[in-house]
Amino acid sequence: MKLIYKKIQKSFDKNANKYDDYCEIQKIVADLLIKNISQKQFNDILEIGTGTGLFTEKLIDKIIFEKLILSDFSKKMMLLSKTKFLNKNIDFLCMDALNFSLKKTFDLIVSNASYQWINNLEKHIKRQTQFLNKNGMLAITYFGNQTFFELNSIINKYFKTSIPASKFLEKEKLKQIFKNNFSEYFFSEYKIIKKYSNLMDFLRTIKNTGEYGFGIKKNKMITKNDILKLEKLYFKRYKKIKVTYNIYVLKGKKY
Ligand SMILES: C[S@@+](CC[C@H](N)C(=O)[O-])C[C@H]1O[C@@H](n2cnc3c(N)ncnc32)[C@H](O)[C@@H]1O
Repeated sequence: MKLIYKKIQKSFDKNANKYDDYCEIQKIVADLLIKNISQKQFNDILEIGTGTGLFTEKLIDKIIFEKLILSDFSKKMMLLSKTKFLNKNIDFLCMDALNFSLKKTFDLIVSNASYQWINNLEKHIKRQTQFLNKNGMLAITYFGNQTFFELNSIINKYFKTSIPASKFLEKEKLKQIFKNNFSEYFFSEYKIIKKYSNLMDFLRTIKNTGEYGFGIKKNKMITKNDILKLEKLYFKRYKKIKVTYNIYVLKGKKY
């Protein structure tokens, strides 16, 4: 596994226990994904990046299925989701979304708030379509590159670097990937603005929902003094700790 993915995996492992207390936005995004899945019945479903099972709970409330496989590359996350679902039709797989081989194919592959962590998304989506049955669907939510743009501009000014979220994909690229790989695709866009009372609260939320750093150079610690200066810059530029979450819902159908 590439170093960058090891870092992401480690970060989710490390903060798994705190995820449920900080995932307010991921919950809203999970509702958007559920709302956009109109079909009520699927035989075989694969969920990628299950985490603690926040989206899964909503999925199994709404959808009738025969078999559901929950997967994640974080062992800690998988252990937490295992305690939530005691259903003989649900299996658990600790696997990397970038490199899995399964004998099964699926009617629905679904993922909430995970795919922005996948580099070279087109290659991986192309591969995943091989695991879809005829009429099968991939349905995901994705945090776009405008997510945390306010923080990015402050980090840029102060540390002369960019945060990982600035490298998430933009709208047209995502649309193109789905257009290239599916017979039919659907796209919708949402913006969530959240206000935090101080910068530390915001950074804590990012950390506990999986962010693995702010693009700061290796071995460089962010000190209390840095945080104070960053917060001052943030208030100066935006008047408050206002944070943009740039969300896409994408569905692709294979005929
Ligand atoms: C922000 S959490 C979302 C969890 C859950 N889907 C939810 O709605 O709360 C992202 C999850 O994706 C997983 N993930 C990220 N990259 C992955 C990869 N390459 N393979 C498998 N899981 C991955 C992480 O371990 C983490 O549990």
